Amino acid sequence: MRIAVIGSGYVGLVSAVCFAEIGHDVVSVDNDSAKIAALERGEVPIHEHHPPELLKRHRGGRLRFSTSIDKSVKDVDAVFITVGTPQSETGEADLSFVEAVAYEIAAAIERPTLIVEKSTVPVRTCDSLRKTLLLNGAKSGTFSVASNPEFLREGTAVLDFLYPDRIVVGVDDETSAKIMQEIYAPLTTGSYYSNKDAIKFDGPTAPKARIIVTNAKSAELIKHASNAFLAMKISFINAVANISEAVGADITQVCAGIGSDTRIGSKFLNAGIGYGGSCFPKDVQAFHAVAMQCGYDFGLLTEVMQINEEQRRRFLKKVRSALWTLRGKQLGVLGLAFKGDTDDIRESPAIAIIEALLKEGCSVKVFDPAATSRAKETLPQKGVTYANDPYDAATGSDALLILTEWKEFAQLDLAKLHAGLKYPIVLDGRNLYRPEQMAAAGLIYHSIGRASGVPEHMAGVLDRTHSGVDGTPVTSTRRQ
Ligand code: UGA
Repeated sequence: MRIAVIGSGYVGLVSAVCFAEIGHDVVSVDNDSAKIAALERGEVPIHEHHPPELLKRHRGGRLRFSTSIDKSVKDVDAVFITVGTPQSETGEADLSFVEAVAYEIAAAIERPTLIVEKSTVPVRTCDSLRKTLLLNGAKSGTFSVASNPEFLREGTAVLDFLYPDRIVVGVDDETSAKIMQEIYAPLTTGSYYSNKDAIKFDGPTAPKARIIVTNAKSAELIKHASNAFLAMKISFINAVANISEAVGADITQVCAGIGSDTRIGSKFLNAGIGYGGSCFPKDVQAFHAVAMQCGYDFGLLTEVMQINEEQRRRFLKKVRSALWTLRGKQLGVLGLAFKGDTDDIRESPAIAIIEALLKEGCSVKVFDPAATSRAKETLPQKGVTYANDPYDAATGSDALLILTEWKEFAQLDLAKLHAGLKYPIVLDGRNLYRPEQMAAAGLIYHSIGRASGVPEHMAGVLDRTHSGVDGTPVTSTRRQ
């Protein structure tokens, strides 16, 4: 098939390289000429494992780049729209980029073309897209519109695309369904996976990807509802973690117990400082706004957002409680990105917590394996220094904070960390260690939804004073 992908951001670029990888002729379009020039040179602007390899494989072959929508959509079978849908001031998705692209497509298409909405959009966007295309010169009968939401995660985007749990295709006519099925056939028939050069997957491989064909509105709703549900899972477990902490239960044990019920599942039950990123915060808000427009107050989503905000406040309270006063203190901070394996800091809980600490008069010494240069564009210069590695961040600091779930932060040399810290205090917003393990390493350890870990020689004193942070029970090595 011949495919144009409009918008070379995260979803657009990953989709373009993956469509080329499964055998299609693809043109990736963006109005940012510097970005297109960089892609033409083989430079990948996102922090992902496979796009550099796929770009190398297909650039100049099945994959081309262009800055012109007009020239790119004339002779293709399908046009995928993957431009940004940022949050507007009212919380709704701002669809002006989608609309602007639709004008240009309408003026350019000359032969039957399927226009596919792949950006995250509110339900009924396909209807508006159809209307806009008609009003701007596209002839009825020369085009149809479909929804094909994307479920890829940053950090594992290519694997999520090539080995999806499901492919959702929302169409309102048979021809569109056939085109979409043909586009994804290498994944749904499994032919791609038997190719010896296929990108390999570590986990249980899917011999055939599952495709779910719905009407366009259902597909649009599936995207928003999926992200809202995942965000709800995170807020739910964070709320349970707060109770767990108060009563002296252990949230990781609670999660194992809850998650082993296959109806619930164990994924997305990691308690912490809440969700961030370019998707969940924006999409939960937008879905809430969509519901309101439909006359339904989706109060559950309001609660999901509130719990998420509250998690950051509770963590800050823990830092205050652990250090007594904050003004003038230096804190080592591990993590800037909104999650591990990405350089993305959009809506990052780590950045929000750092900004709050700076306001309270602390200075921070931060380390992140990938997000430092992006953070430098956002964080103030005053009060922030950038460390070379986790141990450098800890050295001379009054306490160490873990704010992003990078794998490397879970495998630190605890003795070395302890030696560098001014006070042996670690506050872990991602539950990367066991309290007793940290206590045994001589560290006072506060995490989320679990008892604090306190070295044996300090346990008696802390029992008598704070009994951990916020009155949480104390785990000392002696008690294990
Ligand atoms: C999310 C969805 O997972 C994708 O399916 C979706 O396609 C994407 O949004 C999108 O709409 O484009 P992503 O934003 O890349 O993907 O990140 P996630 O891995 O979902 O993590 C989101 C946030 O939740 C992170 O801040 C992470 O730290 C947090 N999280 C995740 C938790 O706090 N606990 C968990 O158990 C899981």
